[in-house]
Amino acid sequence: MTGIEIVPATLDQKPLLGQLFELYQYDFSAYTGEDVDDDGRYGYPRLDSWWDDPDRHPFLLRVDGHWAGFALVHDHRTRRDMAEFFVLQKFRRGGVGTRFARAMFEQYPGAWQVREMRENRRAIAFWKEAIPVPFTDHEWEKGPMQRFTMPS
Ligand SMILES: CC(C)(COP(=O)(O)OP(=O)(O)OC[C@H]1O[C@@H](n2cnc3c(N)ncnc32)[C@H](O)[C@@H]1OP(=O)(O)O)[C@@H](O)C(=O)NCCC(=O)NCCS
Repeated sequence: MTGIEIVPATLDQKPLLGQLFELYQYDFSAYTGEDVDDDGRYGYPRLDSWWDDPDRHPFLLRVDGHWAGFALVHDHRTRRDMAEFFVLQKFRRGGVGTRFARAMFEQYPGAWQVREMRENRRAIAFWKEAIPVPFTDHEWEKGPMQRFTMPS
């Protein structure tokens, strides 16, 4: 079985997360239509906030020793939000995303939400499989949202 490892992203790893975020944005450009800037980058002005804000928790994923994705968890007042979640293409459709997501949820018992853009059919199908407990369906401004509570 594929070995997955989840590590909190350190300040030193900010450029690494920034680079993986570029790939994430490229993936999302299919839905957002976003263009790269003059340097060929999408850019992520809020990158620093993942270390500066104590309510934000950046994690990196390794699979068999290779960087394979990230999860950005944002504590809101009463519930945690999976703000961004990414698995590199090579590692998809083998259960890695599900194992990664469940490990994150289990690390933080309590109220959670995940949100998808309505055009992102893949993510909508994914979260319905990956959330390990009963959830309720909601809407946010860009599409569906699921809320659930992880037991301690
Ligand atoms: C969504 C994402 C995290 C899924 O990661 P993954 O490692 O492929 O997920 P899994 O292999 O654990 O998939 C679990 C189930 O989700 C569903 N699923 C995953 N990808 C799917 C796809 N492309 N189409 C339809 N269903 C899909 C399937 O039911 C799958 O089970 P199956 O492979 O046995 O059919 C990954 O495709 C990704 O990073 N996409 C780009 C970023 C993104 O959209 N993030 C989510 C933001 S809300």
